[in-house]
Amino acid sequence: MGPLQIKELLQQTPDGQSVTLKGWVRTKRESKNAIFIALNDGSTIHNIQAVAAPGQFSAELLLTVTTGSCLKITGQLVESQGSGQAVEVKIDDLHVYGVADPEAYPLQPKRHSLEFLREIAHLRPRTNTFSAILRIRHTLAFAVHKYYNDRGFFYLHTPIITASDAEGAGEMFRVTTLDLEKLPRTEEGAINFKEDFFGREANLTVSGQLEGELGAMALSKIYTFGPTFRAENSNTTRHLAEFWMIEPEMAFFELEDNMDLAEDFIKYVIGYALEHCKDDLAFLENRLAEEDKNKPQNERSIPLLEKLKFVVENAFERLTYTEAIDILLKSKPHKEKKFQFPVGWGIDLSSEHERYLVEKHFKKPVILTNYPREIKSFYMKLDDDGKTVRAMDVLFPGIGEIIGGSQREDNYEKLLERVHEVGIDPETIWWYLETRKFGTAPHSGFGLGFERLVLFVTGMSNIRDVIPFPRYPKSAEF
Ligand code: 4AD
Ligand code: MG
Repeated sequence: MGPLQIKELLQQTPDGQSVTLKGWVRTKRESKNAIFIALNDGSTIHNIQAVAAPGQFSAELLLTVTTGSCLKITGQLVESQGSGQAVEVKIDDLHVYGVADPEAYPLQPKRHSLEFLREIAHLRPRTNTFSAILRIRHTLAFAVHKYYNDRGFFYLHTPIITASDAEGAGEMFRVTTLDLEKLPRTEEGAINFKEDFFGREANLTVSGQLEGELGAMALSKIYTFGPTFRAENSNTTRHLAEFWMIEPEMAFFELEDNMDLAEDFIKYVIGYALEHCKDDLAFLENRLAEEDKNKPQNERSIPLLEKLKFVVENAFERLTYTEAIDILLKSKPHKEKKFQFPVGWGIDLSSEHERYLVEKHFKKPVILTNYPREIKSFYMKLDDDGKTVRAMDVLFPGIGEIIGGSQREDNYEKLLERVHEVGIDPETIWWYLETRKFGTAPHSGFGLGFERLVLFVTGMSNIRDVIPFPRYPKSAEF
């Protein structure tokens, strides 16, 4: 169905067969003997070269063939005369679907800064870098579904609009149809949400976990893969206001099983990209190497493919939060007071601490477990010491936290106590609490931030560049 993609055409054996190309012009080059058009349709990082003879087409028509214009070309697929490509197309006929005035079209064949490209997110998928990222993103998403499907997990669609705050962090976007100019009030003067669309306060979900747990208590192994929303005002290279999260949730999994799954899963999807995105990864690796040329030797990064293979082939380091704090207390930057934030048992590790552990101390991905209960969510299972919970965070080089998860508290009384402790109204999650009353079971799960994974695999440095249309404070264009 539809025309053959350029990716498919490039793989054909050239035999003068007639072919049709449809795509966008990357470059046009005219020499004495020929006119060369490099065409790309986004199916691959590679362009196909189409060649016309001088005088074959009117000067008027050729003037409209410029970078960014969209063409239909019919011609013959032949062995390429020039080096750099195996095949090319001898043009018989050329039709311009859409022009792109070179005076106005912002993408010209030169290197544009990533900051500039963010301002033209509607056009940046037409660049090599972004088309490569988007293809890799797709492949990773596909690998996620394949991984879980092949292992007996069911894809559960959890709601986007919720009335509960799963993470208890309170960083939620309000969903309402109330007239903000004329808010209905109760007798006490508060906003009367009974008149709102859902008859109560509602928000965009920060996590599908709580509903995911309901699924796991029936189907045993489920996963979600959907958009999540956080109104945290963090303008960092690791945070988005709208991001995609994969949340598996498994009955009869303890913390150890949860860690095994997280490690196996992340290695699988990275391995899948290594196998299926060779050209795009090679392109991005070169791009990074080019960038690194301007940096001093000690600031240059490991080549992308080497970095990815290393993660796939080596066991992650597993240790407890308490052990990690000990390492940090004995570390050079701590002794020399180089850390910005203080270290001590009970702190929420900041990214400088995580990076020290991952990049300096262990030099590989790390899974930290058994965090103090005070700094983790209410649903995590309490350890026997009553001080720590069965949490696990997977930390990655250059990224920091890529996965957060835990074994869940399956004891009704203990869970209710935590709910009260953190100030959640049990009425708002009565349904969640009931799973602990009716056939409760040990269970565990985690959340992988999809964009942080794409960030790692593509070697990009800003999370805003690995999602087509990023949402962050003061930005919701496109
Ligand atoms: O650690 P978090 O907050 O955990 C949860 O939401 C749990 N309910 C997961 C679970 O156990 N089912 O978030 C999980 C992951 C983080 O490790 C990070 O990779 C990503 O989601 N993440 C973000 N990614 C981009 N932008 C943000 N603002 C993010 N916040 C979290
Ligand atoms: Mg977390």
